[in-house]
Amino acid sequence: MIYPITKYGAAVLETPTKPVEKFDDDLAKLCEDMFESMYVAQGVGLAATQIGLSKRLAVVDVSVGKNPEAKLVLANPEIIHVEGDQREEEGCLSLPGFRGNVLRPAYVTVRAQNAKGEVYEMRGEGLLARAFCHEIDHLDGILFLQHLSMLKRDLMKRRIRKLRKTGDW
Ligand code: NI
Repeated sequence: MIYPITKYGAAVLETPTKPVEKFDDDLAKLCEDMFESMYVAQGVGLAATQIGLSKRLAVVDVSVGKNPEAKLVLANPEIIHVEGDQREEEGCLSLPGFRGNVLRPAYVTVRAQNAKGEVYEMRGEGLLARAFCHEIDHLDGILFLQHLSMLKRDLMKRRIRKLRKTGDW
């Protein structure tokens, strides 16, 4: 099933999530649905909050469906190590049309559980490191615009308010 993507303004996006406790068939199905929804939306990551669920669960695929080995389920993920930094433009499916430069670590190691509940660790660099940070932020109720300057953030919020008035958000 393809889920619609929750847009900025929904409270679920700015609320810290609850841990995943049951690793059953329903969770496996939810993960597959999240991958499908992410591919349709052409994203490289999707957090459960972006389909309206307050669960500590995200999916990432920086190959955008081209490499099956790049499909990662991040259940209850934590960042355990970071190194260096990178500043690149970042966007979010919940803030369509908006982008901004965000400083992130160049290398990020996460510890997470897969859809079966097995614990794994993975080190990512570049876009993958960025995706880990962006998705784990989502699970903590943080959106990328919170990493921008107050000026840039306020500008975005004003533009979104206007879009909402005209029914375009
Ligand atoms: Ni996002």
